[in-house]
Amino acid sequence: METITLEFKGDKSLSHRSAIFSALGRGTFEIKNFLTAEDTINTLNAMKNLGVRIEGDVKSGSFKVHSQGLANAMKNIGQLKFTADLGNSGTGSRLLMGLFSGLPDAEVIITGDESLKKRPMGRISKPLTAAGAVFEPLDKLPITVYGRKLLPIMHVENLGSAQVKSALILAAIASGVSLRMEEQIPSRDHTENMLQFCGVNLTKENLDVSEGTGDKTGGFLIEMEPPYDIKPVAFDIWGDISSASFFIILGLLNQKKKVHIKNVLLNPYRDKFVHILKKMGGQIEIIEKEERCGERGGDIIASPSQLHGIEISPSDVPAIIDELPVLTIAGLFSKGKFSYRGAGELRHKESDRISAMVKNLTGLGVSVEEFSDGLSLDGNPDFSLTSSNSEGIIQSHLDHRIVMSFEILQKAILLNGGISNLTIDGKEWVATSFPDFYDKLDLFE
Ligand code: S3P
Repeated sequence: METITLEFKGDKSLSHRSAIFSALGRGTFEIKNFLTAEDTINTLNAMKNLGVRIEGDVKSGSFKVHSQGLANAMKNIGQLKFTADLGNSGTGSRLLMGLFSGLPDAEVIITGDESLKKRPMGRISKPLTAAGAVFEPLDKLPITVYGRKLLPIMHVENLGSAQVKSALILAAIASGVSLRMEEQIPSRDHTENMLQFCGVNLTKENLDVSEGTGDKTGGFLIEMEPPYDIKPVAFDIWGDISSASFFIILGLLNQKKKVHIKNVLLNPYRDKFVHILKKMGGQIEIIEKEERCGERGGDIIASPSQLHGIEISPSDVPAIIDELPVLTIAGLFSKGKFSYRGAGELRHKESDRISAMVKNLTGLGVSVEEFSDGLSLDGNPDFSLTSSNSEGIIQSHLDHRIVMSFEILQKAILLNGGISNLTIDGKEWVATSFPDFYDKLDLFE
């Protein structure tokens, strides 16, 4: 059987953080395999306002960042006043809202595109307002962030949002104040891993339920104490596991080609979908390699498989939040019921992803039950389109992951000998996270 070998540009979450952390420390940082997509380039451009000098060709993904350190940058710049357009990126906008809110003398307008302007920002501004931050308005972009020396930050994070967690950590670093956060629903931990990799003294312990039993809750207590010294390091960024998810699933759904993904991030809060696919009968091999920039990674080999449905547990949702749309496509080609609940957060992504999936699948004649926090459908390993719906229209809802999920559905049908000539609207949104998606898709003929 033919094997298609793929390697991916840097993980999006890691790339955003590498750009931000490099501008906060003092010295020369090296970045390798940065994701050169619209979202992450917007974050890097926003950080240039802190006076960093970039050496090398950003487009190649490998470059150096010469940074004066936060305190010096502020001395040299005086009042930091600019507009940061973060385009489509929830991560870029929310992390930077946190950072600038804790930077006295900053007055930064954070804005973005049509999709981002609809997304809730109160989750960042409310807890930070409690520490003395000033945002105007509080919930929807554009928002002006008036930097202040904040009070120590105390927060209970119960959304399961890594963006909220990271924004608060960045605000504490910018203001040089302590932080104590109860993370009740654990979320991706790249901020913690990468800051520890840069030598920051951030501690993370299991949260205990009560003095009485001492039982673990699955949550964490995160604490940091100033001074914060972010040491210059080399960030060698693993390939993007969320981008890889589309091709891992294509490897399982098509009956002709294996897919070998090289050097991809294998963080347990990010590769959970792989384990779910294995439970669904997916033939997947994982080969772990040595850590890079505080993160695990390695290779994944996915072979054609007969999948069966699964009822995904709500407790798994935060770790598969970005992969739920394409997992739904895997569910569509599985035997039996595929469902997930507890994913209300999915309605606040680049689009309302529950509604976008339900509407598009319904348009293709699939019967899907929609819940406020999930969906359920009966899969069919022989799922195909007919002459009456093979020329259907898929609406992107301004969302890259919706576009890519339906491209995978279409490619799986075609590779298995079926007909599909869908009009997938909004292909341009793919460039926000995965500029070479179509080059990779074209390898599957
Ligand atoms: C991200 C966190 C997730 C995820 C997003 C990237 C990050 O959002 O959906 O694509 O890099 O921190 P939430 O933490 O808000 O769920």
